[in-house]
Amino acid sequence: MRIKDFAVEQWMNTWETRCRFNVAETCCDSLSIDDLFELGGASASEFLGELAGRRLTYGHIEGSPEFLSGVCSLYRTVGPEHVVPTHGAAGANMLVLSTLCGPGDHVVAVMPTYQQLYSIPEMCGAEVSALHLDPADRYHVDVDRLMALCRPDTSVICINNPNNPTGALLSTEELESIVEVARSVGAWLVCDEVYRPLNAAGEYQESVADLYGRAVCTSSMSKAWSLAGIRLGWVVCKDDDLRRRLLSHRDYDLISCSMLDEAVGAFALAHKDALIERSRRIVRDNRAVLMDWVAGEEHLSVVEPEGGTTALVYYDYPMDSYEFCTRLVQEEGALVTPGDCFEEPRSMRIGYAYSADPSGLREGLEAVSRFCRTVEGELQAGVRA
Ligand SMILES: Cc1ncc(COP(=O)(O)O)c(C=O)c1O
Repeated sequence: MRIKDFAVEQWMNTWETRCRFNVAETCCDSLSIDDLFELGGASASEFLGELAGRRLTYGHIEGSPEFLSGVCSLYRTVGPEHVVPTHGAAGANMLVLSTLCGPGDHVVAVMPTYQQLYSIPEMCGAEVSALHLDPADRYHVDVDRLMALCRPDTSVICINNPNNPTGALLSTEELESIVEVARSVGAWLVCDEVYRPLNAAGEYQESVADLYGRAVCTSSMSKAWSLAGIRLGWVVCKDDDLRRRLLSHRDYDLISCSMLDEAVGAFALAHKDALIERSRRIVRDNRAVLMDWVAGEEHLSVVEPEGGTTALVYYDYPMDSYEFCTRLVQEEGALVTPGDCFEEPRSMRIGYAYSADPSGLREGLEAVSRFCRTVEGELQAGVRA
């Protein structure tokens, strides 16, 4: 299988541990085990003591009942028999798309989005048509254009709600219209919902798993739950046959998820209200900081994010986004992600939820401002064309 480099992950791998301000981070400020148990009002040492005595077997192959029930509590109509635990949402997307896509398949995927959603189908030999999301539509899906891209052999439609990198959030009505398109061509609707609990209204956005029998949703404990370190995600799939195929694929590369991870994930989801209140507060406060900052920067523009933890900020300097972002991290220590990782030139993706204290974000954005002044000085001095 020929694989394409995963641009955003390679960028993060190169710089993540070498920056002062990680304004590229997409998780809500990560938690330690101690933080998690403090938020849940329980004793971490009791929990760890109990874990220490457990025999480390493969555990429940199809997921521990406690973790599955925590996942189900995030949906209206999902039961434990619909959930397949995975290694993060990255593992969930890989599992789903490599199971569903192969030569002869036609896939429609939104763009920009997390690269897995179009590169995995391509790797698997499918033909992929990109549905370009337009800032003039606030990066929402234009259902007529989606319909126009679909063909009788379209087997999968990939969306991401809320969207990384744009922060666009599709409403229930919009999701229903997309479901109608998928239904009309008999396609699976794959929706990466890893940021779903984070929206401007402070609600759980509707999941397509609750709207369509051929929906396949992916998610994880990483972003909204601040627990990327447990590397635990899941697929929701209500179709019995597809679920069996997913489990069969998973036997080859996973067998089961870590019982330690599932125990932590189950605890977190059993205390989901306390955790999500914290994450929503971070996102709300920091989004305001981000929007104030962009408003004060003459050369920057953004479509206000409606959900998730990221925004795509455009600059009007005549400068390639990799050059812009590399110099920014080298000269000012602030890491953002080049828009070209998402095929969006002259832009940068900002992750605005990385610090629970908004002053942490302010410091990172001030570093970006200092670099903007440097570039403007160079342009004025004619150092740059
Ligand atoms: C949209 C999207 N899906 C999936 C992932 C992978 O997340 P995880 O840490 O759960 O593997 C990311 C990570 O950035 C993401 O932004």
